[in-house]
Amino acid sequence: MRPLRSAAALAALFALVGASDGATVPVRPAPRLVELTLTAAPARLSLVPGKTTDVLAFNGQVPGPTLEFREGDHVVIHFHNHLPEATSVHWHGLHIPVSADGSALHPVGPGGSYEYVFDILPGAAGTYWYHPHPDHRTGYQVAKGLYGAIIIRAADDPLAAIPEKLLVLSDNRFTPGGEVDLPGPETAQGEIDEENGREGDVLFVNGKIMPTISIRSGEVQRWRIVNASAARVYRLSLAGHELLQVGTDGGLFEHPVPLHELVLANGERAEILVRATGAPGSRAALRTLPYDRYVLQTRPANWNVPRDLLTLQYSDETPVAPVAVPARLRAVPALDTTKVTARRYIVFSQGLINGKMMDMHRVDERGRLGATEIWQVENVVGMDHPFHLHGFQFQVLDRNGVPEPFRAWKDMINVRKHETARFIVRFDDYPGRWMYHCHILDHEDHGMMGILEVTPTRR
Ligand code: C2O
Ligand code: CU
Ligand code: CU
Repeated sequence: MRPLRSAAALAALFALVGASDGATVPVRPAPRLVELTLTAAPARLSLVPGKTTDVLAFNGQVPGPTLEFREGDHVVIHFHNHLPEATSVHWHGLHIPVSADGSALHPVGPGGSYEYVFDILPGAAGTYWYHPHPDHRTGYQVAKGLYGAIIIRAADDPLAAIPEKLLVLSDNRFTPGGEVDLPGPETAQGEIDEENGREGDVLFVNGKIMPTISIRSGEVQRWRIVNASAARVYRLSLAGHELLQVGTDGGLFEHPVPLHELVLANGERAEILVRATGAPGSRAALRTLPYDRYVLQTRPANWNVPRDLLTLQYSDETPVAPVAVPARLRAVPALDTTKVTARRYIVFSQGLINGKMMDMHRVDERGRLGATEIWQVENVVGMDHPFHLHGFQFQVLDRNGVPEPFRAWKDMINVRKHETARFIVRFDDYPGRWMYHCHILDHEDHGMMGILEVTPTRR
């Protein structure tokens, strides 16, 4: 199956914009074809010092290779499943046809292959990630090493001149022998993992423990951060530094937002600017501060202990003159609340959505192509559940009735304990069956998922 966009649709996107008024049309380059091969296979790698570990890896690496695309790219990914079990590759956050979504509805059997074909639309620039999404086995396969980052670049990136780093955050737990520790559901730890979502005591940035990022005094760096953990929520702080958040799941904000710490739930991404206000030769640690997402009964004993993630090492060079950060990044047009034709109510209780467990053959919500909808997600329990919708970026309207302070494109919203959040979404394209779920991998694997079917309006 090879779902190609029609030539006419491509032409409309890339060549004919503005052609109808007779003005000169800027010549846009033909869409770039990006073709790559991704293979998921067992491997043996060293993740922790002095040990080797049986892993599952994309192209032999943990994390998998960082995939870089540009807006306008036509992407063809030849995927091969060399695992002994079914898998899929989900391109978390991308607005692409359902045939390329790689959800649990599109498994690739052991030894099988699949061609993921999609276009990167204008406006998609941002930080995304990819991971397997097989029914019941997502947590296992991600814990074994299957995850990677995606960067999409825009031709007119206002921050293009700023040097950039990628930080893929993950955590894992190992047996004394160095193998990934995955206790069975019948064990005490297995039960806690099912309740909390599995956390590990070893924290990785790009697969490394406590790596170093070098910076020069005065410099500004752009950090793209992906929380690829199964359940851990990071509360990031860089001692002595104020951060500027410039983007989130679906790309840049309209304006930079200053902040002292950044809460990043699992599945979420952020782009921040780090201004090197420290002295030459000094160092600072990026840490994660305590964040209480848990129910009391299964809250880990050491939940309130801050943890270091990486060292920011200042070079001895003399400070550089600070670069100016643009006050305006891009437009994030508000979705029109007067066009809303449907409202949906999603209730998260522990392990269930609207009182139900996931059924692969049941459609839970039916939406119309072109419709604008408001979704209300209510969490009735004392534990955070990060909500994720496939296929469409949305805009958070409010949390517990408090309007969101600024507009942004999101595909995740961490619905905190006893919180109710609302977002607006428009199904502008791509009919089909899309999943929505709690992104704590143990919760989604145990059925905290539902299916939205978007169908074209009959004429
Ligand atoms: Cu990041 Cu349904 O997934
Ligand atoms: Cu997704
Ligand atoms: Cu959950």
